Amino acid sequence: MRGTARVPGSLPWGNTRFGGGLPYSRLFMDAIRVVGGRPLEGELAVLGAKNAALKHMVASLLAPGTHRLDNVPDILDVEIMGDVLRHVGARCERDGSTLHLEVPERPVPEAPLELVRQMRASILVLGALLARTGEARVALPGGDDFGSRPIDFHLDGLQQMGVHFDLVHGVLHATAPNGIHGADVFLEFPSVGATENLLLAAVLADGKTTIGNAAREPELADLAAYLSKMGAKIDGAGTSTIEIHGVPGLTAAAHRVVPDRLEAGTFALAAAMSRGSVTVSECVPDHSRMELQKLQAAGCTVAVGDDWFTVTGPDRPLPVDLATLPFPGFHTDMHPQMVSLLAVADGTSIVTENVYTARFRYIGELNRMGADIVADGQHVVVRGVEGLSGCEVDGCDIRAAAALTIAGLRADGENLVMDASHIDRGYQDFVPKLQSLGANVERLRS
Ligand code: EPU
Repeated sequence: MRGTARVPGSLPWGNTRFGGGLPYSRLFMDAIRVVGGRPLEGELAVLGAKNAALKHMVASLLAPGTHRLDNVPDILDVEIMGDVLRHVGARCERDGSTLHLEVPERPVPEAPLELVRQMRASILVLGALLARTGEARVALPGGDDFGSRPIDFHLDGLQQMGVHFDLVHGVLHATAPNGIHGADVFLEFPSVGATENLLLAAVLADGKTTIGNAAREPELADLAAYLSKMGAKIDGAGTSTIEIHGVPGLTAAAHRVVPDRLEAGTFALAAAMSRGSVTVSECVPDHSRMELQKLQAAGCTVAVGDDWFTVTGPDRPLPVDLATLPFPGFHTDMHPQMVSLLAVADGTSIVTENVYTARFRYIGELNRMGADIVADGQHVVVRGVEGLSGCEVDGCDIRAAAALTIAGLRADGENLVMDASHIDRGYQDFVPKLQSLGANVERLRS
């Protein structure tokens, strides 16, 4: 026992790396160890967007043959989507940042629970498989840490296009007995996933589909660009009204994935938090316009070029109010990282979360570091404190883990972000990239 108190469920020996006596499960978790105090300096090129690459992989199912996707990040979610494609009979091979996809003439029209449970985005195969085969059996995804996350908009829109659904033992059985036909669909909320699912179904549908109140995200416009290379007829992608004229067939194509504005934004926040100066290159600054505007309002100096921007952090940030909104509003996936910065602002900020009903688990973790944050309904009140102190925190999802690592860049002492494998779902080489900018950070694998 070497003098350590026995914690129920722990091994009888201490783990010297973590100081001993941690619960058994923790010994097998990854952690990111950050020691605060070093300003980040240098340049970083961003990779392709996770939230585009995943959709492009699904879109490839719409045309048999060999597709090539370039600038695909090497992250866990892409691997999981690779498994989804393999399950339906496609081949998916990586060569550096290029994915080669071989799509069969008759994909197997199903996505089982073990894959959908690992990654909600698997639900997008619904539209693509229906369009290709006239049927699909896809496990219904449950809720998650962000709230109940229903898929009613996806299903309502597809029903208007002639799809019939039965829920059998947790699996959606979708059939289009008379084929998928065009429809005039108006979404209740500009849902990214619903717009994508309808777009994927509509490109091979009979006739014209209009998607009103469509999501305007750049990743969606990039999906439409790839589909157009395959021969799809799409107008208005990137605006709130998309018109699709169905075609009888598509052909395999090659496409380069749009840069990841979330990776770009996360490193901008890391620069600001550390009082450093980082140039983010190979990005599209316009896709991060609102986030950069709010960083400026928080006292950062921001310089912008064609495909780069530089963010220089202030000694102490100013408080800023903001509300998350669909693009081009402030991205919900930048909300936790921004709150990390505002946690040390000289005053009180109010952040309103409009996209998810529950995206607040990270708040308790920041408060363990000494932040003073309360959530009241959809509002997060952040009373800035002078400093944070490092401790063990839970990186409960991709963006929360990034936010807590960023918080550690300024904290006093050592911050341990547990369950750090969430980072691997969305960021390639997150820790080595921070190291290349001078951060005192390392990955601990137990
Ligand atoms: N919603 C419904 N019904 C639906 C669909 C959505 O009520 O049928 C609600 C959701 O519950 C949520 C809101 O509408 O409250 C927005 O959901 P949306 O469909 O736009 O999100 P998504 O397609 O499920 C994608 C990204 C998320 C990102 C959101 C918002 C991917 C794989 N995921 O999710 O990214 O937060 O759009 O921009 O593209 C991340 O990368 O960390 C991430 C969570």
